[in-house]
Parts: sequence; C-alpha cells; structure tokens
Amino acid sequence: MDIVGAFACSHAGFLISDYDRAEPAARERVYDGFARMRDTIEHVEPDALIVIATDHGRIYPLNHQPQFLIGVGSPAHGIGDAGLPECEVPVHQQFARLILEGCVEGGVDLAYSEAVSIDHSFVTPLMLSTPDLDVPIVPIVQNTRMPPMPTLERSYTVGRILGQVLRHGPPGRVVVMGTGGLSHWVGSDERRGFLRQPAGTRFGHEQEFPLVLPERGAINEQFDAAFLEALHRGAAREFIREWSNARLEAEAGNGALEIRNWLTLAGVAEDAPLDVLAYAAVPEWHTGAAVGQFRVA
Ligand SMILES: [Fe+2]
Repeated sequence: MDIVGAFACSHAGFLISDYDRAEPAARERVYDGFARMRDTIEHVEPDALIVIATDHGRIYPLNHQPQFLIGVGSPAHGIGDAGLPECEVPVHQQFARLILEGCVEGGVDLAYSEAVSIDHSFVTPLMLSTPDLDVPIVPIVQNTRMPPMPTLERSYTVGRILGQVLRHGPPGRVVVMGTGGLSHWVGSDERRGFLRQPAGTRFGHEQEFPLVLPERGAINEQFDAAFLEALHRGAAREFIREWSNARLEAEAGNGALEIRNWLTLAGVAEDAPLDVLAYAAVPEWHTGAAVGQFRVA
C-alpha cells in the first residue's frame, strides 16, 4: 500500500458539540487545520483511512481492556457519545484483515473485533475530515486511559511495525490518522485517582466517581509546543526517552496520555517531520487542540 497521507489531530467531542462556545479566532484556526486535512483527503482519494484512536470506557468498560485492538467487521458503529450522533462507518475489511494478519506475523498480537464500536475519538475527526463518513476506515483502538497501558516506547514501536505492514501490503492508497490530546485534565482529582487504582480493583466502581465535566485543569501550552516541536524535528524517540506515562499525566494531564496515538503515527511515518497545520489552546474545549501532518508523501 502507498501511505498517501498521515494526519494527527485532537478528538474532543467539544470541537463539534461546543463549537459556538469557543473563542472565534481560536476556533477558526483549529477548523482551518481540519479543512486542510479534509481537502488533502479529498484530493488523494484514499481507498481507506487507517484510524488509530481510543476508547473512553463506554465500549470496553473493564470487563475486557484491550491494549491494541483492530476492527475487522463492517460497519463500525459510532456509539453517539460526547454529544455526537450515532452513526455507521464502513470498514475496509480486506485491508483490516491483512493488517491484523501482518501485525500478528510482525510481533504485535492485536486483539480484534468482528462487531466493532467506535466513540468520539474516531467520530469527531471523521466528521471534520470526511463529513459524509463514506471513506472506509480500518479502526485501531489503543488503550490511552486505563493503567497499565502500553509504554510510550511500545506505542511508537507498534507504529513502526504497522507502517511496515502497510508498505508491504497489497496495492492500494491509505491515509493514516492518529487522534487525541494534546494537554488536558479530565475529571476531578478523585476520579483521576480512581482510574489509577490497580487493575482488578476498579470494575463496577466507576460510577462512584462520576465524570464531572467542569472539573478540569488548565491547558499546558508549553508542553504542547514542546511536543509538536519534537515531532516537527522527527524526534519522537528523543521525546520518549524523556517522558513516561507518569510524567505525562503529572505535567500535561491524564488526557495527554492520548498523545501516544501521535507517537504511534510517528512510528508509521518513520519519523517524517510533522507540519503543524493548526494549534490553539481552547479553554471552552478543555484542551490544546491541534492538527498536524507528517510529510510521508
Ligand atoms: Fe479523549
């Protein structure tokens, strides 16, 4: 397959549900980035979008917690969370199956789903880049939320292996997308503390620590700038040497753990430089919102 585009972006449902609340200049900066992403996808006409995103606990509520999972059934069901509508997105089953088989051969034992559901981490970027939701996707879910989760090194390495599988795959054109972050704190101290409790102690107790949306921390613009600059230099591995999951959560928020999806994409892109198409700290969306494009094509 030819990788004809590689984009990373934020995925908060607020981008759509709270569009009107954001300060107009910041909002338009972010939307302009998504428009450039949409224009490129329309121009390159990919056969499929390989989307690396996550789950916020609605789809895998600890009765099973995959670290990496690929959807191989079609369609993917958008669950309608975070103020978004329910939807269905076609899955490119041929590519999904080949990626699953190739990753297993290559040393990544992906979990897989023949009846995959997707949350706003997929649907928000798709609504902003393929508004008709008509480009087939291959959904790949990474655990960015419930410890223990993959190390940043592993997130990057899985991207390297995925990139090799794509490049050695059958003829076709794919755009790869990674979603999440940048810096943001989600929920109260008590809720974030609960999420950090040891595996095996949390199932059935999440409702005791409800997610209260206004209880969020400040955006760490300094972190966001440093992270984007590192990827611009093709220095994902340097970033990974200096940062851990614990340091990320402490300095950039539990929501920043989602930037591992950007690191996976940096692995796919083999450290091609990232061009930042848009960045704005948007308090009304509770996050540093960004769109970036790796120079893979
Ligand atoms: Fe998220």
